[in-house]
Amino acid sequence: MALLIRGGTVVTAETTVRADVLCDGDKIIAVGPDLEAPAGADIIDAGGQYVMPGGIDPHTHMELPFMGTVASEDFYTGTAAGAAGGTTMIIDFVIPSPQQSLMEAYKTWRGWAEKAATDYSFHVAVTWWDDSVARDMGTLVQDHGVNSFKHFMAYKNAIMCEDEVLVNSFTRAWELGALCTVHAENGELVYHLQKKLIAQGITGPEGHPLSRPPEVEGEAANRAIRIAQVLGVPLYIVHVSCKEALEAISRARAEGQRVYGEVLAGHLVVDESVYRSTDFEFAAAHVMSPPFRSKEHQSALWRGLQSGNLQTTATDHCCFCAPQKAAGRNDFTKIPNGTGGVEDRMMVLWDQGVNTGRLTPNEFVKVTSANTAQIFNLYPRKGTVAVGADADIVVWDPKGTKTISAKTHHQNVDFNIFEGMTVTGIPSHTIAAGKLVYAKGELRTVRGAGRYVNRPAFPSYFEALKLVKDINTPKPVTRAAAAE
Ligand code: URP
Ligand code: ZN
Ligand code: ZN
Ligand code: ZN
Repeated sequence: MALLIRGGTVVTAETTVRADVLCDGDKIIAVGPDLEAPAGADIIDAGGQYVMPGGIDPHTHMELPFMGTVASEDFYTGTAAGAAGGTTMIIDFVIPSPQQSLMEAYKTWRGWAEKAATDYSFHVAVTWWDDSVARDMGTLVQDHGVNSFKHFMAYKNAIMCEDEVLVNSFTRAWELGALCTVHAENGELVYHLQKKLIAQGITGPEGHPLSRPPEVEGEAANRAIRIAQVLGVPLYIVHVSCKEALEAISRARAEGQRVYGEVLAGHLVVDESVYRSTDFEFAAAHVMSPPFRSKEHQSALWRGLQSGNLQTTATDHCCFCAPQKAAGRNDFTKIPNGTGGVEDRMMVLWDQGVNTGRLTPNEFVKVTSANTAQIFNLYPRKGTVAVGADADIVVWDPKGTKTISAKTHHQNVDFNIFEGMTVTGIPSHTIAAGKLVYAKGELRTVRGAGRYVNRPAFPSYFEALKLVKDINTPKPVTRAAAAE
């Protein structure tokens, strides 16, 4: 069935042009002025609106088993909520427990994700090390379209990686042409500070940011970057929340290292004062790691996005409802870590990014889809509006407004960290794989319509890094044989 998006302005990372967009099946088959509608085609009037690639959220945790509970949002509700906000693809995380086989965990997550409404892919976490992990990494890359591995430098006594695991895994991933990513927080320091704070009688959510200060993140970010530098491998740092981590990334990039940084919509607009609320439920609902920071860090993160030192935006969508958060009523270290936003990210970024002049619409496309597609080797199948690309499209009404609220959002969680924020610039229609899945407030997603997306190994920057490595490979000094 064909679908014609008529009369809009097509915005990609590079260009802004008045054009119609014709989709057939799951692909875009024409982009240009005054396209003819095939007989029986559905027509969307995009007059006065932007037509952009659907958002890609590279960091979500649907139905994640974590900290003694399971995230409330599943792959169907989560991807449907994403569609309501203009996001048409997520990259979620397979997180094996220590000693669990990576392949076994991967198969479990694939099963859970079959209900997804829009396309999805997986990063796989390396939480421990032995030869079987190295083998499974190979199988995942070569046979299952995984091209990124995640490492948690925090969550001691659970999924935390020591440096030894980072070195082994980074080395193996390089051989396979896969990108390593890290959650950068020094887990040993977090553990130490948590125990100290509890002993001091600080048991409420205000202890959460105190146990994870920016220095803890800066140290880990810098350590991961230096390890990657010595090994000569690319690195992607998830949820950069503070100046210290951003400075480490910016310095490394200025020195020619291939380091990428992701920022969450929440870290750009929510500040640390939330943790000092006298309402436990409100404060606990904001507990996520790294924590929300001061305005000074927020400004730095915006500048990071503007300067290109941070390339992608995500949500770390990982939802827990009040009864789940209540597990930590008397001990903040037991509050399940995570907040939502997969539905809100694009609107928050447009409202606070484009409407303030920090980002152009083209830059908005870069940081909400195109850069992610390039870094994770999905481009130009995803991340652009062009002939041959997947028909994952958002029709964006720059004048439309709405007030974000847990009462009206589609996310399966009882709280919204952007509650009460009135945004201007909202999706009017979302098209996923050529199907209209959201139209003017009405969700039309189909359970199970999403597809697993294979991501090929060896994105182009591997080739570049290989050249750098070859040029810099040390050579032995040739000396004349010693006289007998
Ligand atoms: O608090 C968070 N971010 N929860 C999800 C797991 C992670 O660290 O990404
Ligand atoms: Zn057709
Ligand atoms: Zn994390
Ligand atoms: Zn996460």
